[in-house]
Amino acid sequence: MTKNHARIATAHEPGQPLSLLLKQSTLITDLALYDVVNAPGVAADISHINTPSVVNGYLPADGGLEKALKGSDIIVIPAGVPRKPGMTRDDLFNINASIVRDIAVGIAAHAPKAFVLVISNPVNSTVPIVAEVLKKKGVFDPKRLFGVTTLDVVRASTFVSEAAGKPTESLQYRIPVVGGHSGATIVPILSQTQPKSEFDQATQDKLVNRIQFGGDEVVKAKDGAGSATLSMAFAGARFASAVLEAAAGKTTSSSAPEYTYVHLSAEAGGKDVASKLPGQVDYFSVPVILGKDGVEKILPLGNLSKYEEGLLETAVKDLNGNISKGVSFVESSK
Ligand code: LMR
Repeated sequence: MTKNHARIATAHEPGQPLSLLLKQSTLITDLALYDVVNAPGVAADISHINTPSVVNGYLPADGGLEKALKGSDIIVIPAGVPRKPGMTRDDLFNINASIVRDIAVGIAAHAPKAFVLVISNPVNSTVPIVAEVLKKKGVFDPKRLFGVTTLDVVRASTFVSEAAGKPTESLQYRIPVVGGHSGATIVPILSQTQPKSEFDQATQDKLVNRIQFGGDEVVKAKDGAGSATLSMAFAGARFASAVLEAAAGKTTSSSAPEYTYVHLSAEAGGKDVASKLPGQVDYFSVPVILGKDGVEKILPLGNLSKYEEGLLETAVKDLNGNISKGVSFVESSK
């Protein structure tokens, strides 16, 4: 049996519901929770659940980060502060960038071969931050670093099935969502919706806008008390399970792709996909076949409508700004 040591870098939200969901996974044998407060309490609570994993909680004192990270096979990072109404994800950069950078430094030292799943916003910039830290330490493997964009795919299937008048069939609705994880960088490819669905232009515009700004809907409804944590935990757990199942050899080449924000490295075929994008960009959420070592193959985006090509152009432009911001942040860090 594969021994999977999963580490969640926070016991706050969405780390707390995420930990609960991951405790249900029989692929995980050891669950470590890390946060600046509360992690031991949350770990004690979750540890009473009679699933196989052993749970421990760590605080920064006494080398807690090192203890939490050491020996990990998979690390999920939802750490940082959430948005308030009126803020964009990029407005979180000043606080969350250094939190994510410091965890990445710990990963480079204590778990350089782990799969790293980044949830902390702004994902478009925090993934490049982790990559740059790992590059500096000579341990960057583009196949093992993922920005979690699963919530965009989950939202798309909920919203599109509703628009198609079949809300109870949402699980059957599969809509590719590519690009990044904020506003106009989120590009739903409605023309590839399965089961095939046709929408007039006005409905299409509304759907695209709702998928792109679904996060804002929750921020507004929570009215100052944060952003999506429960649906994000669901999406994070779903993606972590996909990575773990693939690592355990349970994924085949005919498995449905996962959509995730990765470095478009030559190795996994990312350069082919990159060369067809309307502009140069190093990171993009793409359809990926996962395997034992992480990204096994990056698949082409397929046919796009003229309208979707336009959305892609805007996404590439915005993403480049977000990516350079993350890269420069690490370059200018001591
Ligand atoms: C989301 O998509 O809901 C999350 O990225 C949180 C946010 O700030 O919107």
